[in-house]
Amino acid sequence: MDYNFEYFKKSADYVRSLINDEPEIAIVLGSGLGDFASRIEDPIEIKYEDIPNFLVSTVESHAGKLIFGKAGGKKIICMSGRFHFYEGYDYEQLVIPIRLFKLLGVKATILTNAAGAVNTDYKVGDIMIVSDHIKLNGASPLRGKNVDFFGPRFFDVTDMYTKKLRELALNCAEDSGLTFREGVYMFFTGPQFETPAEIRAARILGADAVGMSTVTEALTAAHCSMPLLAFSVMTNMAAGVLDQKLSDEEVGIAAAKISERFGKYIEKVISQINISEL
Ligand code: HPA
Repeated sequence: MDYNFEYFKKSADYVRSLINDEPEIAIVLGSGLGDFASRIEDPIEIKYEDIPNFLVSTVESHAGKLIFGKAGGKKIICMSGRFHFYEGYDYEQLVIPIRLFKLLGVKATILTNAAGAVNTDYKVGDIMIVSDHIKLNGASPLRGKNVDFFGPRFFDVTDMYTKKLRELALNCAEDSGLTFREGVYMFFTGPQFETPAEIRAARILGADAVGMSTVTEALTAAHCSMPLLAFSVMTNMAAGVLDQKLSDEEVGIAAAKISERFGKYIEKVISQINISEL
């Protein structure tokens, strides 16, 4: 498949024809963190399967729709359900959502995910503002022919998790009823959870949390110079930290517990973002 500019434009033209507007901020909702979607005013919902050249969500806890509307006084586009490498997509396909956002005129992207806590100071329910990531396995989503419209072949990722947005996120923490951390997210391909030995290795390498998403989207955002903010919700202690097995159910229960508070907090963050200063 030739993922050229025309390929991405086709999805964007379709979505634009339905929303007739330009979203300012995009947000991707992770596993069990769908509550935020209910806060969107005047929503226009578009099923992923109806968007040409888009992907479809195969994970049960992911709704599989794009929602355009207002939240925190801003025009937003929200992905309720995302795409992962473990679903069978190629890395090259995982650029599709962020490139859609870029073509729609989005000025900043917020990514959220459920993650396992590697840092033993962290607790289930804590929120980690991602300051950096480690991705040692698998290919880059930017592999293949470069689409110059979005960014250069080789690109810097030193400050890809935008400092200004991270500071803003911390400043919004007060009264949220949530505990915030700042740390490093390490990407694993899944769908199996990690082994205890992998988690020990991750800790030595400097990871604070592990998960199976976000990094491909974050790299795509960095490539097209999109300001970026990413949050990891600690839904479990990573493998081997506690003397118990990991399960998707545990992840879902922990995410559901904070989903409402987190949704409210995200709305506050969105309301505080000053688009003209990004
Ligand atoms: N590992 C990987 N992905 C995850 C985890 C985990 O422990 N928890 C939630 N998503």
